[in-house]
Amino acid sequence: MRDIRNIVVLTGAGVSAESGIDTFRDAGGLWEQHRVEDVATPEAFARDPDLVHRFYDARRAAIQTKAPNAAHAALARLDAAWPGELLIVTQNVDDLHERAGAARLIHMHGEHLNAWCSACDQRSPWTGPLIDRPACPACGLPGTLRPDIVWFGEMPYRMDEIYHALARADLFVSIGTSGAVYPAAGFVREARAGGARTLELNLEPSEGGYWFDEARHGPATALVPQWVDRMLGV
Ligand code: NAD
Ligand code: APR
Repeated sequence: MRDIRNIVVLTGAGVSAESGIDTFRDAGGLWEQHRVEDVATPEAFARDPDLVHRFYDARRAAIQTKAPNAAHAALARLDAAWPGELLIVTQNVDDLHERAGAARLIHMHGEHLNAWCSACDQRSPWTGPLIDRPACPACGLPGTLRPDIVWFGEMPYRMDEIYHALARADLFVSIGTSGAVYPAAGFVREARAGGARTLELNLEPSEGGYWFDEARHGPATALVPQWVDRMLGV
């Protein structure tokens, strides 16, 4: 087995579950409380922007009351100490990875704590509500801001960088994702095509679980620190 120098980690909602942030497809998950078509598509935003703003205003406020958990902390520790290439690609739109200290990080689905202006195309840090149509901090126009979230049907961010890292990876680790949504669900196959070893750390087998060389099932706050300790030889 070739030495492990370059690592890509993919995280999903499951890595933030123990911080008290709802996942999407678990029992009681977000998509049981809301229809995707009503709140997470460009068509929904065009049809009823107030409904979409209320949905994301509530989630943007909620995540600011949450804290990173031991899984976020362990990944930040790996990020700080790993001598080779490391990229954490998160599907999550919370900021718990950053708050735990992760730096080599890509938010492929956008970020709750940013707003995106449809007039000037600028993204600005944003912690308050958007329902009142505040002015864009960059261009000053009112009513042009939307959540900086990649909705169904939109292209995720920085895919070129992600595919480049997957092609170079010696190890791909998927943490806390159901493997239900593309393109993230296909990353394990991209990594395998480049010769990487693949590991899944999840509460239960994901939809693409059979693509992984190895899988461990349990809570991320238990599995991820154990895995990071092994990688760092602790
Ligand atoms: P996609 O076509 O790759 O995803 C299809 C999948 O999206 C389905 O398999 C299902 O898992 C999910 N999905 C679609 N409609 C759904 C529904 N009605 N209920 C529950 N799940 C549903 O996704 P896409 O349309 O190509 O979207 C592009 C990207 O945008 C994807 O990576 C997606 O994850 C992302 N996205 C982000 C958010 C967010 O809140 N961050 C919300 C939606 C989509
Ligand atoms: N520890 C580890 N895994 C967990 C935990 C936990 N404590 N709790 C839940 N999980 C696992 C579940 O078993 C499930 O496989 O996390 C996964 C969560 O899956 P989803 O709710 O589908 O979330 P995710 O995979 O991130 O969804 C992908 O879909 O709606 C879109 O863009 C949205 O980014 C999201 C994407």
